[in-house]
Parts: sequence; structure tokens; C-alpha cells
Amino acid sequence: MLSPDQLKLAAARKALEFVPEDAIIGIGTGSTVNIFIEELAATMKGRIKGAVSSSEASTARLKAHHIPVFDLNSVDEIPVYIDGADEINHYLHMIKGGGGALTREKIVAAVAQEFICIADASKYVDVLGKFPVPIEVIPMARSLVARELVKLGGHPELRQDFTTDNGNIILDVYGMHIAKPVEVEELINHLPGVVTCGLFARRRADVLLLARESGVEVLR
Ligand code: 5RP
Repeated sequence: MLSPDQLKLAAARKALEFVPEDAIIGIGTGSTVNIFIEELAATMKGRIKGAVSSSEASTARLKAHHIPVFDLNSVDEIPVYIDGADEINHYLHMIKGGGGALTREKIVAAVAQEFICIADASKYVDVLGKFPVPIEVIPMARSLVARELVKLGGHPELRQDFTTDNGNIILDVYGMHIAKPVEVEELINHLPGVVTCGLFARRRADVLLLARESGVEVLR
């Protein structure tokens, strides 16, 4: 039986096939992406121009491998964005932000032509919502947003001892009924004080590289 890290490695290696030479690619955040960065550095370092990163953590890892990191504002196009997910459904809608980098992830993903999600089979679900939905919130709006989330049927919990790369807090929302991910994403994102929520439904993944015991499935 393959370990979770072996499954992540299999998905990460498959993702290398989607990286165009000589391009600036988008890089997400998390343990699966960390493995992808290691593989990228080992096999393709001189063959890409560099990366746009979605977090300080990924930036540090890329720089440690001497992979150039570009400011998004200086980049016109990103052919592919490679990132993990906390949950992904059959429509390739996702919950992201377990690592707290959801806002920058959503920004880089919005520029990318193709979002390639790398995940092991434990992340693939029929209905989103068992994993709590992370929401980045401006600190002064914490109570307001929490009250509004309760009205929407959620149970928000403040992520302890955590500040995002943008200086904000995270509310992790349990128990949300997410039958219609696009609608729920829009509802939450319209609350004053919300920077963004970890539902990636309006901008879903284009390709899912799903690592199973039997191999990596390519789902579109
Ligand atoms: C970070 C994320 C990650 O993609 C998500 O949490 C998955 O992480 P991992 O690969 O460690 O399971 O959204 O903000």
C-alpha cells in the first residue's frame, strides 16, 4: 500500500508533464505542492523561466532551489497553475486554504490559463463540506462575519495563532451545506470584511491529477 506521501509524489511527477518549457508557471501552497517543487527543481529547473508563487512559504522553497520568483504584476500570462486541494468534487470545484494561502492562490489561479490540481484519492468527494471552509477575514470584521456565517448555517471557528501572508485572520467554517458551490462561494464572498473564501467553484480546476493505488488518473 502506498503512503500518502508516495501518492502525493505520484501526482506531483505527473504534473511535470503539464509544465511548458520556458514559461513562468503558477505555484500553489501545501505539502503536495512542496513535493512538486522538489521534483520541479530536480528535473526542470533550467527549463522554465520561473514561477509566480501563492505564498511566502512556497516563495522561500522556490528561492532555496534558485528558481526565479516573479511578482504577479510583472507577468502577462501564466499557462499553468499547479496546486493541491483539501477537497475536490466531480465537477472539479474545490475547498482550499487548509494552509491559509487561499487568497493569493485564488488570485494566481485567476490569471492562469489552466489550473492543474494535484491530489491523492482521499481528497476526491461527492459533496464538498466535510472539510471546514477557510475564510480570510479582515480582523475588525471577525465578529460580524462570524454572525453572518451562523445565519448561513455554518459553525465558524477562529484559526488559532494564525495570521495570513496578507495580515488577516482565518475563520474555519464547519457544517456548511454546499450542494451548490458557486452560490455558496458568492454568498460568502459578498459579506463585508471577507477577503475571500476557500471555495474555488467559480474558478474551478481544469485538470485533476488524482493519485490512486492503481496510478494517476487524469480527470477533466
Ligand atoms: C493551502 C491549500 C492547499 O492546497 C491545501 O490545503 C492542500 O494542502 P496539502 O497538499 O498539504 O494537503 O489550499 O492554502
